[in-house]
Amino acid sequence: MTFLTGKRILVTGGAGFLGQPVCQELQKYRPGAIFVPRSADYDLRDAAAVRRLFQMQRPEVVVHLAAVVGGIGANRKNPGRFFYENAIMGLQLMEEARRAGVDKFVGVGTICSYPKHTPVPFREEDLWNGYPEETNAPYGLAKKMLLVQAQAYRQQFGFNAITLLLVNLYGPRDNFDLEASHVIPALIRKAIEARRARQDYMTVWGTGAASREFLFVRDAAAAIAGAADLYNEAAPVNIGSGREISIRDLVTLICELVGFKGEIRWDRSQPDGQPRRCLDTTRAQRAFGFHARTDFREGLTETIAWYEKELAVQLDLVMSNG
Ligand SMILES: NC(=O)c1ccc[n+]([C@@H]2O[C@H](COP(=O)([O-])OP(=O)(O)OC[C@H]3O[C@@H](n4cnc5c(N)ncnc54)[C@H](OP(=O)(O)O)[C@@H]3O)[C@@H](O)[C@H]2O)c1
Repeated sequence: MTFLTGKRILVTGGAGFLGQPVCQELQKYRPGAIFVPRSADYDLRDAAAVRRLFQMQRPEVVVHLAAVVGGIGANRKNPGRFFYENAIMGLQLMEEARRAGVDKFVGVGTICSYPKHTPVPFREEDLWNGYPEETNAPYGLAKKMLLVQAQAYRQQFGFNAITLLLVNLYGPRDNFDLEASHVIPALIRKAIEARRARQDYMTVWGTGAASREFLFVRDAAAAIAGAADLYNEAAPVNIGSGREISIRDLVTLICELVGFKGEIRWDRSQPDGQPRRCLDTTRAQRAFGFHARTDFREGLTETIAWYEKELAVQLDLVMSNG
């Protein structure tokens, strides 16, 4: 028996890129039921839909993953939408969860909430020491308000809400749409398209000097399920791999794995985003025994293989329809 065993768990965003592996990980704890509300049936921006969701499903645990997300491009295009929708979904959901007497609320936050110039590795204590990097500040701050809500509800109502701060994720079933994708799927897609078109160069945003930390999506899912089961404190917890890589080295590695041998041209008119990103993950290790398991090269190879297979399926569909 664990805390989650037999529980009715609501996973918002449970059909998404991270949501699917999270549901798989939660199954390992033998919950009573897992319910995944789709946005078409329960639009979480709508307070009435959120109330109806709790009346219909009567969850005991809520894992809140639903969000509007994207890379630098999507964040720059949609600052207002990313701020409003992420804030309102979380605010309403946590308030209804509290009113419904839910046992535990697991909020999934982001590294984008950290100040632009945080000493590396980022420690949870540094979260409030400055304004986030401008390109993703509205998204990061909307998510950060949910940490404030969680801590305030714990203080005033004794509500058990926890907050996890995730680094950039990657893995199979990521969003490869260049308009909305994060850096890894965008680079994989560009490199594959450049290889297929036999281009002699490929253009990449920024200077390559920025650094990032990446976590394989199944590792992130294991961390969320582990925290949902074991962690019950107000303090936010970093979830990452603890491994920093420059965008320049990332591009080189992806091109090698994809088999693109052409030149890389840096488009310096485009932003780098936050200069450096890497988390101190000792609190997650201490609090619920989490550490990332997936080797970066192996995780990337699996992600590339998944996307190449998707492309082959799409090509087959076009051929059979045409
Ligand atoms: N991906 C990353 O690198 C990363 C990094 C750090 C943190 N996170 C966090 O992880 C969580 C999951 O991200 P993801 O990458 O898995 O995103 P995703 O694949 O885009 O999934 C997001 C899900 O949110 C749901 N959603 C969006 N708007 C909704 C609405 N108005 N009402 C109800 N549901 C709505 C969607 O449900 P439908 O499919 O039913 O429309 C979708 O499945 C987010 O909270 C994000 O901030 C992600």
